[in-house]
Amino acid sequence: MSKKLRFAAIGAVAAIGLTACGGGGAGSGGGNDTANADPADLTIGVAMPTQTSERWIADGNNVKSQLEDAGYQVDLQYANDDIPTQQQQIDQMVTEGADLLIVAAIDGTALSSQLQAAADSNIPVISYDRLIRDTDNIDFYVTFDNFAVGQAQANALLVGLGLKTADGGEGTATGPFNIELFAGSLDDNNAFFFFNGAMDVLQPLIDDGTLVVPSGQTDIEQAATLRWQQETAQSRMETLLTGSYNNGTVLNGVLSPYDGISRGIITALQNAGYGPDLASTPKPLPVVTGQDAEIASVALINQGVQSSTIFKDTRNLAEQAVTAAKAFLEGDEPEANDTETYDNGNKVVPSYLLPVETVYKDDIQSVLVDSGYYTAAEVESGQAD
Ligand code: BGC
Repeated sequence: MSKKLRFAAIGAVAAIGLTACGGGGAGSGGGNDTANADPADLTIGVAMPTQTSERWIADGNNVKSQLEDAGYQVDLQYANDDIPTQQQQIDQMVTEGADLLIVAAIDGTALSSQLQAAADSNIPVISYDRLIRDTDNIDFYVTFDNFAVGQAQANALLVGLGLKTADGGEGTATGPFNIELFAGSLDDNNAFFFFNGAMDVLQPLIDDGTLVVPSGQTDIEQAATLRWQQETAQSRMETLLTGSYNNGTVLNGVLSPYDGISRGIITALQNAGYGPDLASTPKPLPVVTGQDAEIASVALINQGVQSSTIFKDTRNLAEQAVTAAKAFLEGDEPEANDTETYDNGNKVVPSYLLPVETVYKDDIQSVLVDSGYYTAAEVESGQAD
């Protein structure tokens, strides 16, 4: 297909998406006349995946409090990373007459029948952070620039190795360096964006020999971590160390897509004798990246154990979700800043993407403490108050 045609096709799909959205949304004049309602009479169902990771607790709290500040009732549910639990929670929100849903899916492909029920009741659905796939019945997507997250993680790995400087210049190191690659959960659309963004930066350096992956595991299927679990990552790292590093080969860097995974990787490395600093051990801890600026990892970055993380300000994501929710409930369309990138298999979903920020040790104060995300005491203790 020519570029022009492809563009036209995407435009057509986007237009269909927007029409479908009008049809299912609150502004359609369908079953729910929310536009004239008092917000206090409207309930928004918020479905979050898990409380085992801080970021989702922060997301849930931020969305709930900002919606309540706008006057709405909120039904916030967490599903313990269990798909049937999340399905049942959303079914119940629909049955109980929610006026709008905000959903961060556990498995992005497992909610079709719940969202069909929502559409049948004219309930608009906002996909939160993770794209819900294989359904026409989502109206909007709020997230971060997920491809940019992956690129930033890969760049942080190169900065940690000395191949690049933090401002994007050439580093003083030349390599070759041994690295291993980790990816997130394959049922989460974001995992592909992170990994593809990272490989966009790393692949040329793998191809020219600057980076070597001794395990040979460079496919996302090989690198994946089901449900993003720390223990799963730890055990894969142990297996990689036994399989590819028992002959004296030293690992220099690990691409990790999420702080919990990073901590699992670091534990495996420490158990295998990798030490915290260059001076004290022949096996210095490899450069390990991350994501989410979880407090336990921020403390590790502060101590020089983890190299970096990607900060995604969930306060801003919550704000975008609330802005979109208000628009739907008032009978309008939320404003998208991306109508091309996120094809969920059925349609291109109008999206609002937020920027991300890389945090190294030197950035903790300016990015995380000065903005009020954490206090200096929390960074010190590694625990959120
Ligand atoms: C989110 C990441 C998070 C991961 C694990 C992804 O969908 O975008 O911020 O690290 O899930 O919870």
